[in-house]
Amino acid sequence: MNNIVVIGSCNIDLTVLSDKRPVAGETVLGNGLNIAPGGKGANQAVAAAKLGANVTMVGCIGNDAYGQMVLENLHRWNINTDYLVTLDDVNTGTAHITLAEGDNSIIVLLGANARVDESIVDGAWDAISKADLVMVQNEIPLKTIGYITKKCAAAGVKVLLNPAPAADLEAEWLTQATYITPNEHELAALYPVNNTDDIIKANAGKIIVTLGSEGVAFGKDGDIHKVPSFKVQPVDTTGAGDTFNGGFATAIVNGKSIEEAIRYGNAAAALSILKLGAQEGMPTAEEVSAFLAKQ
Ligand code: RIB
Ligand code: NA
Repeated sequence: MNNIVVIGSCNIDLTVLSDKRPVAGETVLGNGLNIAPGGKGANQAVAAAKLGANVTMVGCIGNDAYGQMVLENLHRWNINTDYLVTLDDVNTGTAHITLAEGDNSIIVLLGANARVDESIVDGAWDAISKADLVMVQNEIPLKTIGYITKKCAAAGVKVLLNPAPAADLEAEWLTQATYITPNEHELAALYPVNNTDDIIKANAGKIIVTLGSEGVAFGKDGDIHKVPSFKVQPVDTTGAGDTFNGGFATAIVNGKSIEEAIRYGNAAAALSILKLGAQEGMPTAEEVSAFLAKQ
């Protein structure tokens, strides 16, 4: 089966396009504004749904126009929002993105995402307990992540923890998670060791490290394996990591090996960065298959 439950953030991304990133104290004129759904949780949910998974989104939004945009967008991709709670006294999360000089910089205001607590998890337990895979990221209170890994481990529910943005999580939570998908920087925040290779080898089958243009590393048979990424000319890399995670997760619940799932996630991520916006450009299963057939 392919039931995925994402417990995480829903944001509206406000992306300013500019030739130049202002330095402190400077004002520059930009070229445009793109307002579109984002948030690591919702991005991963949409990526998986577009690739054919049966997805439920658990989280919090505000009772405002951006919250409505979040809901409408999730419904557009047939994502179950029965456990997405609307709160009256807080704004929907927003991400303030500058796309300049070929890269992005982001300030996230968690807003309602900061209210995803134990009670939200308990309220959605019906769906969570039946999931083939639960996906979590670091855009909700960190102690909620610990609650999720503990409760899911006890119930035998698999958890994919995407520890982004970087944070120092408790070692016990990492033991309880089934898959952990950091980039190098996030890995360093999780494990206070200098040798990345040793950590990957010691956590074969669990830790999958994204290395940007260098591909994705994982441990197998006492060694490090690298699955290369696909080279494309990016328009906007916002949400590329989320698309990788959504693709990886969908392939895993469809019974693929870790290596196959990484390749699938890489293909989905490559296609997604060809369009402006975190979710715009996320491919369908057919588009990924066609892309992989051409490689
Ligand atoms: O991972 C990309 C996402 O991070 C953006 O959509 C933005 O909302 C930030 O949370
Ligand atoms: Na995109």
